[in-house]
Amino acid sequence: MKTLVVGTGGREHALALALSLDPAVTEVHAAPGNPGIAAVATLHDVDPMSGPAVAELAVSLGADLVVVGPEAPLVAGVADVVRERGIAVFGPSGAAAQLEGSKAFSKDVMAVAGVPTARSFTCDTEAEVEAAFDELGAPYVVKDDALAAGKGVVVTRDRDEALAHARACGRVVVEEFLDGPEVSLFAICDGTTAYALQPAQDFKRIFDGGRGPNTGGMGSYTPLTWAQPDLASVVLDQVVHPTLAEMNRRGTPFVGCLYVGLALTAAGPRVIEFNVRFGDPDIQPVLAVLDSPLGVLLAAAAGGRLADVPAPEFRGGAAVTVVLASAGYPESSSKGDVITGVEAAGETADVIHAGTAVVDGSLVTAGGRVLAVRALGADVASARAAAYAAADHISFDGLQRRTDIASEPLGVVEGASLR
Ligand code: AMP
Ligand code: GLY
Repeated sequence: MKTLVVGTGGREHALALALSLDPAVTEVHAAPGNPGIAAVATLHDVDPMSGPAVAELAVSLGADLVVVGPEAPLVAGVADVVRERGIAVFGPSGAAAQLEGSKAFSKDVMAVAGVPTARSFTCDTEAEVEAAFDELGAPYVVKDDALAAGKGVVVTRDRDEALAHARACGRVVVEEFLDGPEVSLFAICDGTTAYALQPAQDFKRIFDGGRGPNTGGMGSYTPLTWAQPDLASVVLDQVVHPTLAEMNRRGTPFVGCLYVGLALTAAGPRVIEFNVRFGDPDIQPVLAVLDSPLGVLLAAAAGGRLADVPAPEFRGGAAVTVVLASAGYPESSSKGDVITGVEAAGETADVIHAGTAVVDGSLVTAGGRVLAVRALGADVASARAAAYAAADHISFDGLQRRTDIASEPLGVVEGASLR
C-alpha cells in the first residue's frame, strides 16, 4: 500500500512513522512534511492547502491512501478533491469538517444527537452574550465560532474579560463551565462504524501546574490509569455513534478521526469540543502503544469497511511525550536557533519534529512547538523518566518545556479549570 501524509507537524511525523512500521505499507510520502519526516518518508514540496495539488501528487504517486493531518486543509475541502479523483482518503469532507470548523455547528449536531456536553448559547450580539452570562453564571466560557488554532477560547470569572473576548470574536458560543480532568479520545470512523483508540491526556497550558496561556499542547501520555476502564466504550455509545448517525442523516457522513475532547465531570463524561483530526501531541503516545497496523486500520476506515478489520489493540505499558517549544511560545515563536542533541536523544526515544528546518546543513527551530520527545516504559512513571532523560540531551536558545508532564497526581493537574 502506497500512502501519502498531508501536513507538516508532529502529528504528521508520528503518523508517517507508524505507517512506515506497518508491513502492509510499501511507501510513505509526505506533502510537504518536515526534516524529521524525511527519515521515514519521501517529501514532496506541495502546498497542503491546495486540493488540486495534493490530488495531482496522489495520482502521480499511485497512492492507495491519503491521510490529511491538520484541520485547515480538511475544512478547506482538500479531502473532497482527492476523493473525487478516486483515491481513498482518511479525513472528512469539508462539509463534515464543520464539526471542528464551526463551534455553533458542532453544538447543534450534539444537541440533535443527544450527546452529553455543556449547555450553550450561540450569540451574535452583545445583548445575547450578556443574557447567556446571566443564565449560565461564572466562570464564563466564551468560544470563537471559527477555527482559531487553539486561541479562540477564554475561560474566566472576570465578566469584563469574557465580554471583551466576545466583542473581539464576532459570533461566539457561550457555554457552561465543565469541571473535571480533560481526556482526549480518538475515534477512527468510516462513516457509520467507529473504533476508539486508547484514551490519552494532553497538557495544554504553557507552564507547570497547568498555568499560563493555552498552547497547542505541551505534552501527553497514555494510559490513563485513573480513568474509568470503560471510558472508551461509554464515549463510543454516548458520543461517537450518535454523532455519526446525525452526520449521516444530514447527508455528510464523517470519515476520519473524530477527536472527542472530554471533561470527566462528577455527572459523567461531557464533550468540551470535537476536532476532525488526530490531536497533537495527544496522538503521539497513543500511536507508540498501538499494536495494530495503522495503514490497514486507516485504509479500512477510508474505504467504508472498518467492520472488516479487527478493533485496534494496544500493548501494555505506557508512553509519554514531552514537547520542546521555542522562545516566546505561545504568543510568538522564534526561528533559526540551532538545535543540538537530537541524535543522542534518539538513541533511547523517538524525536518527533514539529517545527524544524535544515538551514546550511544545520537543524534549526522553525515554529512554536519545535520537537517532541516520546518514550515508552513499563508504566507511566518509567516512560516519563525515559522521555525526560532523552529530552535532556536536546538544547537550543530559548527552549521551553514543562517539567510536570505525566507527573503525579495524574489526571488532577490538567483539569478544565481556572488558572
Ligand atoms: P477548546 O478549544 O474548545 O478545546 O477549548 C480550549 C480549552 O478551554 C479546553 O481544553 C479547556 O481547558 C477549556 N474549556 C473549553 N470549554 C470549556 C468548558 N465548557 N468548561 C471548562 N473549560 C473549558
Ligand atoms: N492537542 C490539542 C489539539 O491537537 O488540538
